[in-house]
Amino acid sequence: MLNEKIAKLLNAQVNAELYSAYLYLDFSNYFEDEGLDGFAHWYEIQAQEERDHAFMIRRYLIDSGHRVTFEAIAKPDKVFKTHMDPLKAGLEHEKYVTSLITTIYAAAFEAKDFKTMQFLDWFVKEQGEEEKNADDLIKKMQLFGSEPKGLYMLNQELAARVYTAPAAEE
Ligand code: FEO
Repeated sequence: MLNEKIAKLLNAQVNAELYSAYLYLDFSNYFEDEGLDGFAHWYEIQAQEERDHAFMIRRYLIDSGHRVTFEAIAKPDKVFKTHMDPLKAGLEHEKYVTSLITTIYAAAFEAKDFKTMQFLDWFVKEQGEEEKNADDLIKKMQLFGSEPKGLYMLNQELAARVYTAPAAEE
């Protein structure tokens, strides 16, 4: 069993990851509507990864002897004025998720819960990658997104993103 505080934080993180999936699917809805199917596809895969994160934490809680409980998932309520808006919102969101993971890690460290720290190591690394991906996308959009041909090429590039299950990423 995990200590109560850590179990609670992890349980809340399941909700946060499911919200992330919901948020990125909402970004995908926006890009579908804008006719940018490559961007829509990229965020759809992002949503699948977030769902995986939720499943991994849920499984960890169950395997550690805890009952997982669910709360409502908040409605994504962002309104986008430009194609850049979701990209920037994505980076901000990932920074926020990193702060949540850091909080859980710090609680595990304080409790000398080395098992949870080891479990969270994957997420710490993943957050570094997620922030970098979001930042790279913003930079590419700044460079190429303001003219139609550049936007078309970037859309093609993003359409090629392939979903990889987390276990296979190691
Ligand atoms: Fe599961 Fe993008 O953090």
